[in-house]
Amino acid sequence: MIDMLKVPTSLEEEHKELMDSIEMLASGDSKIAKSVKQILIILEPHFEKEEETVVPVLGSLGDLASGIYTDLEEVKERSDALREDYANMLEEHRRIREKVEAASVLAKAEGREDVLNILELLSHHAAVEEEILYPAALLAGKLASMLIIRERSI
Ligand SMILES: [Fe+2]
Ligand SMILES: [Fe+2]
Repeated sequence: MIDMLKVPTSLEEEHKELMDSIEMLASGDSKIAKSVKQILIILEPHFEKEEETVVPVLGSLGDLASGIYTDLEEVKERSDALREDYANMLEEHRRIREKVEAASVLAKAEGREDVLNILELLSHHAAVEEEILYPAALLAGKLASMLIIRERSI
């Protein structure tokens, strides 16, 4: 796959911060750490897929909104990959939420507000993706497809 799209720094940073925090919580042998490790098992490959599909497509939004139509093929290709995997991505969010819930129960029982806050940030991140970012990436793909068809018909 060609690799020309920009990555939105805000989202890249958010992924990195979440991953660093979750990895930190998962280190050690405490009950909470073991529970957070279960999140990490699903989260690592999930973030990797997002960074191949959703994240670079979102990086094209600014240009698309300004009418700058470069790299349409790549936007389409990556967005198509997301569309094909959409049900799995949502299922992974569901499984992540399940594990977050289990870890939150332990964190509450131990009065670990710090852990609860990080878990809350992760849940919020997934909700923003489902409500806004994933659909925005699909829309960018649709626009790219339409523009490619238009270019070919001229
Ligand atoms: Fe994400
Ligand atoms: Fe996600």
